[in-house]
Amino acid sequence: MSALHFTVTFLLLTLLLEVNKAKSQSFIGVNYGQVADNLPSPAATSKLLQSTSIQKVRLYGSDAAMIKALASTGIGIVIGTANGDIPALASDSNFAKNWVDTNEVAYYPASKIILINVGNEVIMSGDNNLISQLLPAMQNVKNALDAASLGDKVKVSTVHSMTLLKQSEPPSSGSFDPAYGDMLKGVLAFNNATGSPFAINPYPFFAYRSDPRPETLAFCLFQPNSGRLDGNTKINYMNMFDAQVDAVRSALDAMGFKNVEIVVAETGWPYKGDSDEVGASIENAKAYNGNLIAHLRSMVGTPLMPGKSVDTYLFALYDENLKSGPTSERSFGLYRSPISP
Ligand SMILES: *[C@@H]1O[C@H](CO)[C@@H](O)[C@H](O)[C@H]1NC(C)=O
Repeated sequence: MSALHFTVTFLLLTLLLEVNKAKSQSFIGVNYGQVADNLPSPAATSKLLQSTSIQKVRLYGSDAAMIKALASTGIGIVIGTANGDIPALASDSNFAKNWVDTNEVAYYPASKIILINVGNEVIMSGDNNLISQLLPAMQNVKNALDAASLGDKVKVSTVHSMTLLKQSEPPSSGSFDPAYGDMLKGVLAFNNATGSPFAINPYPFFAYRSDPRPETLAFCLFQPNSGRLDGNTKINYMNMFDAQVDAVRSALDAMGFKNVEIVVAETGWPYKGDSDEVGASIENAKAYNGNLIAHLRSMVGTPLMPGKSVDTYLFALYDENLKSGPTSERSFGLYRSPISP
């Protein structure tokens, strides 16, 4: 499979195809999901990433072939532990040490692993046993990194969905659902104490789906609109992404964690959906992704975090054809696999 196949970008994200990779674009990453049976080889994917200005890639697990294929590319790698590994990571420090040695230490520093996410969307999983073991698991992974003298270079976090917020409008009133109470507070204290980011998945697409008016679409796609006034701060928000990220900022600040940074672990827009999935189209996916990238590159930031761009991982590099659920779930890919139909 020649790399040439990839030079035709499916969503025409020519914005990402840059000869000169400015250092200042280190905030643009991409998710590499693997729930698929038609993915290009790790070598081809590594080549593709190197042809773009994408500087970071998030794996959901710790696929050895992909981590190796990214060696010596300078591309930052986020890896994750499976939710199913959390009980063992929490209760057995040797298991945590082995996990870190096998999935991280073995590849470092050739492969530039920058963050380990312990589990994905655990706190809102409803599984109280798993939830109670999240923080001890994060602590054991952190201890194992410290023991390997990598504690300063590799951060430990976990990823949350926006449903963690009880309120997100207006942005200044953003707050977490008290139902997650002490557990969430413990994770935030860990983020704060270790300097790791709070990772969350804002999807303006879902906001539009629940409020499918034309002005909402323009607001979600960074297109001309009259904005939404936050009556508390008098800030007129011009796009949903900023509004959602600032709602998270407000929720963190309200709990006293003003120094904990936000990472957008996932955001994206599907190019295809079922007949009842309003807004899923090639045109909208191009507009969302293209305008989001331009917004991040502008370095304007959000109204509550001006002058810098939040680290953002686009969802996703490729379609995942084996995902269940509505058609949109299989239609977020920015690049088409050359062997997909
Ligand atoms: C966050 O960490 C700083 C520095 O370690 C500490 O002074 C502060 O009390 C922490 N904040 C919270 C809310 O725990």
